Amino acid sequence: MTHQQILKGFSKLSQDEKLRFVSARFDDSQQARKIFESFIHPDPYIQQRLSGFSENTISNFPLPYGVAPNFMINGTLYLVPMVVEESSVVAAASAAARFWAERGGFRARVIDTSKNGQLHFLYKGDPDQLKQAMPDIISHLRKHAAPVTANMEKRGGGVTEISLKDQRHLMDNYFQLHVTFETGEAMGANFINSCLEDFSEGLHEFFSNTKGFEPRDFEPVMAILSNYNDECLVEISVSCPVSELDHAAPGLTGKDFARRFALASQIAEADVHRATTHNKGIMNGVDAVILATGNDFRAIEAGAHAFAARSGTYRSLSRTRIEDGEFEIALTMPMALGTVGGLTRLHPLAEKSMEILGNPEARELMMIAAAAGLANNFAALRSLTTTGIQAGHMRLHLPNILTQLNASEEESKQANRHFSNRKVSHQAVAAYLDQLRKRSPNAGKNHT
Ligand code: MEV
Repeated sequence: MTHQQILKGFSKLSQDEKLRFVSARFDDSQQARKIFESFIHPDPYIQQRLSGFSENTISNFPLPYGVAPNFMINGTLYLVPMVVEESSVVAAASAAARFWAERGGFRARVIDTSKNGQLHFLYKGDPDQLKQAMPDIISHLRKHAAPVTANMEKRGGGVTEISLKDQRHLMDNYFQLHVTFETGEAMGANFINSCLEDFSEGLHEFFSNTKGFEPRDFEPVMAILSNYNDECLVEISVSCPVSELDHAAPGLTGKDFARRFALASQIAEADVHRATTHNKGIMNGVDAVILATGNDFRAIEAGAHAFAARSGTYRSLSRTRIEDGEFEIALTMPMALGTVGGLTRLHPLAEKSMEILGNPEARELMMIAAAAGLANNFAALRSLTTTGIQAGHMRLHLPNILTQLNASEEESKQANRHFSNRKVSHQAVAAYLDQLRKRSPNAGKNHT
């Protein structure tokens, strides 16, 4: 939908005025307005909160909120909340979680929780003098940033390391301060960015007040956290004797299942096209938990893909091993999550998700999200190497196809029965409904 003029002051309009403006652009503006309004929360207090998360809000965009039971992680059973729009993700996670709960569950550990950010700057002075001054610069920066770091330090976090990186091989005069942080229960984005901006001022002050340095040699370019938290890693795995996989897939022995599964895993390690889809399957589970708990799924996505490419070639994040009759799948990935700050406690449903999970600490939440990722990865490879993905996926997609085809309640009932033992495709469902409607022409009318 386009509009003819550049709009000025749109952000200043009230929510209702914005809604009227957008609705007026539809052929049937009353109907459009009704639809947008129908998704506005009836409790104005809650709606105000939701509207405040973003800008120019005119309505809400609901996604299904599901739960996947039976996630056994380090001996504890979790009911895992998942928010996702794709059919079969929650079903796949649940099936895989139960499969592994019956075989000892997931083993997980957090490798580290350290996060990082950079002050990117140009320096035209003497690089050796700059390098030699680093101990003095670091102590000056720490003092300068004390008001910003004090609270975080009280909570056991703060700035853990400051180092200078000479980046002149990438760009003329380019240096960076690479800073690592511990942010405790917070994801820490605001803390990290505030520290880095303070370091920029502190560095300018150092160059202005220290003999032999000229502030004009220093040009700060930007100060920002990195979403590539290559040290903030979680590791998760499942394993069982190959003989216990005898019933993992119909018609395959455990040995054959394990062999085919491992082949699929090797292909994802070797081929970038497959690796991308393999990792997308992992992110199906991870993102769904991250969304449900109010964390930033774009940050985790970006970091995961950068980590997958850390060798210089994009590879799968998980790997499979068969050794001495034991089958194991393991996943290691960055997972910078927080349990305070952000939306975690502000979004009423994110807060409920945290309660469902027993109010985990950040480290525990990292393991839970990773478990959902590995569960979805296992489920995807199990389907792909046995029945193919479409059978299960399309069966769970059937309600969406029926809605698209305006099936009535009665038609949907009959279609569900009909397709319970048949292959589902859009075409097959359309043909089936056509047939039904020819037989009883009024059957579809009560839906639309
Ligand atoms: C679909 O959302 C995810 C899969 O494509 C993942 C995979 O291929 O491993 C099934």
